[in-house]
Amino acid sequence: MEQKGFTLWFTGLSGAGKTTLARLVETELVARGHKVEVLDGDVVRTNLSKGLGFSKEDRDTNIRRIGFVCHLLTRNDVVAIAAAISPYREIRDEIREQISWFVEVYCECPLEVLAERDVKGLYKKALAGEIKNFTGVDDPYEAPVSPEVIVHTGNESPEESVARIITRLEEMSLVEETERVFSEGEEAELRRRLEALGYV
Ligand code: ADX
Repeated sequence: MEQKGFTLWFTGLSGAGKTTLARLVETELVARGHKVEVLDGDVVRTNLSKGLGFSKEDRDTNIRRIGFVCHLLTRNDVVAIAAAISPYREIRDEIREQISWFVEVYCECPLEVLAERDVKGLYKKALAGEIKNFTGVDDPYEAPVSPEVIVHTGNESPEESVARIITRLEEMSLVEETERVFSEGEEAELRRRLEALGYV
């Protein structure tokens, strides 16, 4: 099958697993022969969006830039994976309109869980008022209304989330279904049954 480009757009609060899932999906798609590029908010802000802050205007500019690069990659048959908070629905939908194959993945995780995990220590600071305009604390986050995939990263493992994303991509015919790989236990069981039937 010829490999089509598409954009996989992760959205969700800081710490909700966007980068982790983006990298895991990247690994899986590369293994299946796709060309993949990840555009991660934290990384993009050190080069393409260097100097931008977190006002609505700056966030919109950041997201539009990421969207534009995703558009260029997608039309050249690359899988573009975006992993930025992208808090505003209107801008995400604007980008969706620009890109022929756009798959939105909402990383849903309750704020309490994120504040409890607080991997980067930013929620503690935001809740203490040391960082202002922090998404989900004192700045808006508009969840997608009908994303192609929702992953509940507060109560499912990264592997489970990745599996659901890949399944959805297969359903959308953006990724070719691969043969199911059996675990060792399953293989032994299969062999036992085939033996019982006299096949091996
Ligand atoms: S976006 O709003 O423009 O999409 P982006 O994903 O690029 O955000 O960057 C978010 C990252 O910047 C967070 O994961 C966090 O590490 C850091 N950050 C610093 N200040 C803020 C803030 N006020 N709100 C959200 N994230 C912030």
